[in-house]
Amino acid sequence: MVIYHAETLPHSNKIVLPPRPLSWDRANIMTTIGHDLTPLEHGGGLRAAARRYGTPAEGWLDLSTGINPNGWPLPHAIDPKLWQRLPEREDGLEEAAAECYGLPHPPLPLAGSQAAIQALARLRPTGETACLAPLYGEHPHAWLQSGHPLHLPTTVAEVERLLDRLDTLVVVNPNNPTGGALEPDQLLAWADHLSRRNGVLVVDEAFMDATPERSVAPHAHRRGLVVLRSLGKFFGLAGARVGFAAGDSEIITRLAHHLGPWTVSGPARHIAHQALEDRAWQASTRPKLHAASQRLATLLTSTGLHPDGGTALFQWLRSDAARGIQERLARQGILVRAFDAPSSLRFGLPPGHDAAWHRLEKALREHA
Ligand SMILES: Cc1ncc(COP(=O)(O)O)c(C=O)c1O
Repeated sequence: MVIYHAETLPHSNKIVLPPRPLSWDRANIMTTIGHDLTPLEHGGGLRAAARRYGTPAEGWLDLSTGINPNGWPLPHAIDPKLWQRLPEREDGLEEAAAECYGLPHPPLPLAGSQAAIQALARLRPTGETACLAPLYGEHPHAWLQSGHPLHLPTTVAEVERLLDRLDTLVVVNPNNPTGGALEPDQLLAWADHLSRRNGVLVVDEAFMDATPERSVAPHAHRRGLVVLRSLGKFFGLAGARVGFAAGDSEIITRLAHHLGPWTVSGPARHIAHQALEDRAWQASTRPKLHAASQRLATLLTSTGLHPDGGTALFQWLRSDAARGIQERLARQGILVRAFDAPSSLRFGLPPGHDAAWHRLEKALREHA
């Protein structure tokens, strides 16, 4: 993982957003005028790929997400009562999450961290917002949809120049898709700065579980800080739709009221609870993911695709030929994620077995 310090974030004026008729005012602030509401592109669209390329969904090697392909081992049976009864707050899930993430108090469970990404933008009073770009496109999309003027700084220095005027700053750490990571001290200083004017720093830690020592979760009692976590990536439980929000108590309380009761289903709470408590699995998974990601970086490099960044769950590289490479791989049943701005590719981890790695290597070498 690349660690960025002041001035070392990669320079790019471009952002991970689909080409849309966005408008810019004279101060270079993006506004909502013309921002359309169609859903954004995401990885994991196997059925659509199967239809488009005529390869049945089972035949694909899906590397289009940052989801752990060898996720937490699910139990074979789920107690029918979990489907039949309403979920109960007292089942211990929130406490297990606090313990696992090192939070000072139990977090708010969410139907995936995506639920908070959208709700926070609706809850915050309209005000100048910045998202450190490029980043997961749902963040800027949500703030624009909710009518906030949006800055897209691409460097630490640019963020610092904006701090005095921002109501909200959003940082994905480590970042998806670039893999860039900021120091916790840097983020905490920004949160303190913003909180002096009732501003807020939102830190999306969806990809933090492989590097827990870099999390700001232990500081989630601070004013002006909101931390988001996800069960979808490291634990490989994206379909369960479980995430958490913790931090500034006033904001978390408003978020809880906004989302209402039973945000996470009983079976999903049960699975998430067990996964969060399974420290042995977590400890043994971290080095395996780091090793697999390194293996992927080495493989890509050996075929001429040099990664520009990554996390334990994916590798990312800039390439002017991104869409072409994505298309060629798709014709061989390998799905990867391509971005247009900046033109780049993200490769998730192949599953553990050698056949998948060999298949990827063969396909990459054919086009090297
Ligand atoms: C950076 C980041 N944050 C949040 C999410 C949403 O994840 P979930 O809603 O599954 O927790 C994603 C999904 O891809 C992501 O990449």
